[in-house]
Amino acid sequence: MAQQEDVFKKLISHCKEYGFVFPSSEIYDGLSAVYDYGQMGVELKNNLKKYWWDSMVLMHENIVGLDSAIFMHPTIWKASGHVDAFNDPLIDNKDSKKRYRADVLIEDQLAKYDDKIDKEIAKAAKRFGEAFDEAQFRATNPRVLENLQKKEALHQRFAEALNRNDLEALRQIILDEEIVCPVSGSKNWTDVRQFNLMFATEMGSTADGALKVYLRPETAQGIFVNYLNVQKTGRMKIPFGIAQIGKAFRNEIVARQFIFRMREFEQMEMQFFVKPGTELEWFAKWKETRLKWHKALGLGDHKYRFHDHDKLAHYANAATDIEFQLPFGFKEVEGIHSRTDFDLSSHEKYSGKSIKYFDPELNESYVPYVIETSIGVDRTFLSILAGTYEEETLAGGESRVLLHLPPALAPIKLAILPLVKKDGLPEKARQIIDELRFDFKCQYDEKDSIGKRYRRQDAIGTPFCATVDHDTLEDNSVTVRDRDSMEQIRVPIEELRSLISDKVDLKQLLRKQA
Ligand code: GAP
Repeated sequence: MAQQEDVFKKLISHCKEYGFVFPSSEIYDGLSAVYDYGQMGVELKNNLKKYWWDSMVLMHENIVGLDSAIFMHPTIWKASGHVDAFNDPLIDNKDSKKRYRADVLIEDQLAKYDDKIDKEIAKAAKRFGEAFDEAQFRATNPRVLENLQKKEALHQRFAEALNRNDLEALRQIILDEEIVCPVSGSKNWTDVRQFNLMFATEMGSTADGALKVYLRPETAQGIFVNYLNVQKTGRMKIPFGIAQIGKAFRNEIVARQFIFRMREFEQMEMQFFVKPGTELEWFAKWKETRLKWHKALGLGDHKYRFHDHDKLAHYANAATDIEFQLPFGFKEVEGIHSRTDFDLSSHEKYSGKSIKYFDPELNESYVPYVIETSIGVDRTFLSILAGTYEEETLAGGESRVLLHLPPALAPIKLAILPLVKKDGLPEKARQIIDELRFDFKCQYDEKDSIGKRYRRQDAIGTPFCATVDHDTLEDNSVTVRDRDSMEQIRVPIEELRSLISDKVDLKQLLRKQA
């Protein structure tokens, strides 16, 4: 675990050093849980958003896009339940004065039981070698069984407390499990209190009676309140979906783990409107579709798992998370929720306007049910970096740090490197870039030795480097080096476009997930 934390720290410095992510307002000592994306980060992020957007809007005839405003009428948040129920249960340690989410402390405790079980299994696997039967060991080893039983009992108590919204019961679990503050090491806890996560501000001048508005905590409500506009103007027939990418804001009190939990972040959400009664079928379908999308990134299928919710949000009748194995454990990157007709019916009630859908096939009107897929851009960005970062030792003892980014997402697709800064090689390299810049993002680099330049490109995940040497002037060919295998091949310049385009095209990813 300590080793994983070390990797995570290195990843954070790597992000800063190579222009992926900077702390916000750094020259003013930063602003907690707010980050800026640098010159490489923004390219990767844009490519990631395009991958999601195209997978929804390009690949589905019945899904269209939307870009709704961040500010919305404040009653929307009353209708959605966010004013009354968008809370985190918080607890303070009286000695360290640090504040924690009570549910997160308990989830960490659950993960500790898993760790203990994993350690027992790893020890036994080492002891028994080839003959080790993990399934039998899990079913019979007394220490594994004891930890499993403790974990299950805790899990059940936790789920019950959450479902009852019983803050005192959450506190009692923390006391009974003897959970200590990671900073002070003490068990001196306050009561658990609810804290609303929405940021509020004022619209208009105070003299006119300013309106209290919220920065949206999710993009979904912009879709709900526009669903009939889109349905009517786009002549959409159920089932259909509306996709949106945009900023969301939450006043996270326990903001930790870099861009995993931010106060300003970006979501990619799709609301899929279906006939009531068919929602669980669609829920299952979208679970599968979304997992495929993630797996197509090639970060390792075993690094994903579903986590079904113990406590359903106020709007859901089924919900699951897609979790990814980050250096600090399996964590949610996407939520898939069957939101019933909760939001639309509530907006009907609060606005006083009918937003029913007229179904021409059934010749009747109804409020559609909704399946939502909601993925965090920043968390997916983090999972891609964590899943592709490698410190590789090369033959001969040298080492390199590289990002095995999927070529379609890499910020730079091709680096063009003149072997030396003279003899007409820089001019030739520039000529090649001028030809290729219409097709994909190239970067010119002439500084330092060729080895150092390769390392710089490896560190930002550039899948290909083309070296222009003296022979290039004679044979009009370049040496193309592959980032992962480091193999080099000689390629005629006229073939460069098709060779690289093919490999870095987003179609590669879209085909895999389709
Ligand atoms: N509309 C439903 C919704 O917002 P959610 O599970 O609260 O559901 C969806 O959020 C996704 O948004 C999460 O899976 C996560 O990837 C991302 N997300 C939520 N809070 C975040 C935060 N504070 N920082 C970064 N990403 C966040």
